[in-house]
Amino acid sequence: MPSEIDKIDLDVFDAIAHLPPAPILLVASGDSEENWNVTTIGMFNVFSLFPVVVGIGVKTSRNIYRLIADSDDFTINVPSTDLLNAVEVCGKELGAKKNKFKEAGITAVKGKRVKSPIVKECWLNIECKKMGSTKKSVSAINVGELDIGDHTWFLGQIVHTDVWNNYDRAKSLLYWDGEYRTADKLLKKVP
Ligand SMILES: Cc1cc2nc3c(=O)[nH]c(=O)nc-3n(C[C@H](O)[C@H](O)[C@H](O)COP(=O)(O)O)c2cc1C
Repeated sequence: MPSEIDKIDLDVFDAIAHLPPAPILLVASGDSEENWNVTTIGMFNVFSLFPVVVGIGVKTSRNIYRLIADSDDFTINVPSTDLLNAVEVCGKELGAKKNKFKEAGITAVKGKRVKSPIVKECWLNIECKKMGSTKKSVSAINVGELDIGDHTWFLGQIVHTDVWNNYDRAKSLLYWDGEYRTADKLLKKVP
């Protein structure tokens, strides 16, 4: 193990960039088929194991922010390397009216236990009910939404998960400091 003398100081941003790679996700929401949409999200964390609660960090300026804020649920969809192009399309500003499923050539299918859609082509689909129950209860609205700085964390309890049989999770797409990767291979460096 290196001694303390081998350590160097990092500024805060560099420290975050040095964290181990995180999954890149296609997050979808909308409580009716007409307003279903999907976006690329990198900020993700597990917040509780009993119950299983996960969170995604979303800027209020995103169209998906409004969709999730107005819905009871959202889905987290884990893409494989062959969905890199779809991830890039869904990560671009296309305007509130654009259906990113269509633009990215991916398929929206209604979730099994939520109103939001899942992305059919993703190998892992996680259906989440927003913490704090339904949007109808004023007191509940903010229970599952943490406004921390420039991103709001939506917390969701996992209510259903679909996974492809025999999928090699090493083929999951990761995003780390401007690079799309798998756990073992650099696929593309963003200019
Ligand atoms: C690799 C990558 C990761 C991203 N991660 C996040 C994120 O964690 N939170 C966020 O609010 N936006 C994130 N974005 C930006 C949104 O995907 C982007 O602004 C998108 O255009 C928002 O679409 P919308 O306004 O239709 O929801 C990310 C984009 C990319 C390409």
